[in-house]
Amino acid sequence: MIQTAVLGYGTVGSGVVEVLETNKESIEKRAGEAIGIKYVLDLRDFPGNPVEDILVHDYEIILKDPEVQIIAEVMGGVEPAYTFTKRALEAGKSVCTSNKELVAEHGLELMELAKKKKVNYMFEASCGGGIPIIRALNSSLTADEIDRISGILNGTTNFILTEMAESGADFDAVLKQAQELGYAERNPEADVEGYDACRKIAILSSLAFGAHVKYRDIYTEGITKITAEDMKYAKELGMTIKLLADSKRDGERFSAMVCPVMLGKDSPLYSVNGVFNAVFVHGNVLGDAMFYGSGAGKLPTASAVAGDMVDCAKHLGKTVMMNWSNRELEQVDRKEVTH
Ligand code: HSE
Repeated sequence: MIQTAVLGYGTVGSGVVEVLETNKESIEKRAGEAIGIKYVLDLRDFPGNPVEDILVHDYEIILKDPEVQIIAEVMGGVEPAYTFTKRALEAGKSVCTSNKELVAEHGLELMELAKKKKVNYMFEASCGGGIPIIRALNSSLTADEIDRISGILNGTTNFILTEMAESGADFDAVLKQAQELGYAERNPEADVEGYDACRKIAILSSLAFGAHVKYRDIYTEGITKITAEDMKYAKELGMTIKLLADSKRDGERFSAMVCPVMLGKDSPLYSVNGVFNAVFVHGNVLGDAMFYGSGAGKLPTASAVAGDMVDCAKHLGKTVMMNWSNRELEQVDRKEVTH
């Protein structure tokens, strides 16, 4: 049995435990060996906690246990996730994550460390929830020159905008609903100000362009200023408003931004509604492709983390190379960036 640990028993962490349990048998066949969860790390403790028997509060226990070969880091935020990930990789353990803040900030360094240690740092769940877009960019499309990647990358804001369009409600009322449904991050600022989508488009652009696209270079504007009236006018024009994350490459230069845009019915993104995400990719030989699916939420995101864990189990002792180098492209339309 390959032993693993899950860091964080929040929405995604509990989803990872559920996925590995629900699909235990098929996962064992695909991984070539059973995947067990030896520890769950979480500071919280409550009566009736379903993972009580394997719950630990001290990371050192996981780090020092040589049986643990794969770690799912689903804590979110840069620290302590960064320190925990670095120490895990240094100790020869692979790490799979849904943490886009950490991947956008330190992903390149962590991948290089993983390579040095012959382990893996995988982050399929960091962009597009359950949509397998990282794998597509990193393997299926590596024979292509991708020059455009564009899409709806935040489920919370897409849910809010969809509800505003359908019900005519205002922004604050729908945000509250999104939080109650568990889509919005702990701090909704990251979603509604566009920072979450910004980190995701930085990660996708880095893989698509095979360079390092820094999220701080990306002009970002969220949806907090969109009113019920704006939505009404868009509707009257036969259009809708979506938060678009868009990135283009032209040789050694790139241009990227996150901002609300009006889309007409002729856009393939027009009918991407609710918590769904969609990513449009253009390549010089591929032409167009669009990836669509559950972009947020417990099980879709956990499905991507667990998929990475199975992949790590299949590649023990070998690093799966990521198409993300330290070459930097020039950002051509960098505006004042505030995050
Ligand atoms: N808060 C994020 C979203 C979660 O709404 O898309 C998935 O990354």
